[in-house]
Amino acid sequence: MISSAIKTSLLGRSVAKNARTVSTWAQVEMGPPDAILGITEAYKRDTDPRKMNLGVGAYRTDEGKPYVLSAVQKAEASLLAQNQDKEYLPITGLARFTKAASELAYGATSTALSRLAITQSISGTGALRIGGAFLQRFYTKQPTVYLPTPSWGNHAAVFRDSGLKVGKYRYYDPTTRGLNLDAMLEDLHALPRGSIVLLHACAHNPTGVDPTPQQWAQIQQVVEEQEHLAFFDMAYQGFATGDADRDASALRSFVDSGRVPVVLSQSFAKNMGLYGERVGTFSIVGADAAEKDRLLSQLKILVRPLYSNPPIHGARIAAEVLTQPELRQEWLGEVKLMADRIIGMRTALRGRLEELGSSLSWNHITDQIGMFCFTGLTPEQVDRLAREFHIYLTRDGRVSMAGISSTNVNYLAESIHAVTRD
Ligand SMILES: Cc1ncc(COP(=O)(O)O)c(C=O)c1O
Repeated sequence: MISSAIKTSLLGRSVAKNARTVSTWAQVEMGPPDAILGITEAYKRDTDPRKMNLGVGAYRTDEGKPYVLSAVQKAEASLLAQNQDKEYLPITGLARFTKAASELAYGATSTALSRLAITQSISGTGALRIGGAFLQRFYTKQPTVYLPTPSWGNHAAVFRDSGLKVGKYRYYDPTTRGLNLDAMLEDLHALPRGSIVLLHACAHNPTGVDPTPQQWAQIQQVVEEQEHLAFFDMAYQGFATGDADRDASALRSFVDSGRVPVVLSQSFAKNMGLYGERVGTFSIVGADAAEKDRLLSQLKILVRPLYSNPPIHGARIAAEVLTQPELRQEWLGEVKLMADRIIGMRTALRGRLEELGSSLSWNHITDQIGMFCFTGLTPEQVDRLAREFHIYLTRDGRVSMAGISSTNVNYLAESIHAVTRD
């Protein structure tokens, strides 16, 4: 005979088990959706034929289609014909790729190459994360990384999750929609000596505002004086001006001075269209070859427990494109083509807004550079664009210029004019 007390407790337990009322994860709260992915979802749900997705930072052709570069297609065909195995790469990745990538970034004749500790990474994000982890472990001066305001939405999260503290310096001026150089210099000057300063090497995301060479020289001077560490994020080499060397000039100038510790995250997502292949590098400029070896040994110790070794396919493609002279030439031409199409869309958008008689100044559309335009639209105006015109962008007013084409630029201009007119 089972007593009624035991019966009740058995029953209670089985009910609780079935109803799963005490899940181990009951305390886990619903997180907010990713801002960019949320936009893509809303865009997908919209059935209006005029709809535009200007949120996502990926290049589109004038037909609005994703673009697989011809040089990349040829490299892939050549790899397929070589019938290579799929063995693991070393911890720091494919040497042929990292060598070519470092030459692209620092310049083939750079004296830094012989003292460069470089590892392949899971694109730019992974490079930033390795960099954050390395600095957290070894940079004792100031474990705070200072980001421009605003910066790429993921920077703060990447660095916080790497164990660094995150601070800010002023960068963008909403009134001029350009660089607030004085404020930037003032802030860089006021940071504790030896701070980690994150600098977008070119095509600043989200503002599209880059310093001029003269302004870069002033920035470099303060960074040198204050003995800061320059963490360059180069996710758009070639995309800003169409010239990969020109886009790397700020990085190279800092390195050549020899007076600033420099680390670099590099991505091939945008300039080779290898988004989902996750191809990038993280590198540290050492003082000499012996220091490079020590740095590299510690990078390996960091990477091994993170993901053992990086993926092989995308790195092979990039290596092929960078080292086969014909493919390289074709690729550089395609980068210029992509950059020029975006520049053309900037001119068309501004021109059409002016033709429509907008009383506002739209000079910033053509003054800004790279994949994005910080339009200055308010969150309410952005909401109206989505609700009434089926045009989707982030609420900070950032437009991905690559999503604009010759067939929809007029509609976009008319819609922006409509929401900014009153
Ligand atoms: C400034 C900046 N850094 C890094 C990244 C990282 O991109 P990925 O991880 O795709 O290379 C991006 C991507 O949008 C970016 O805009």
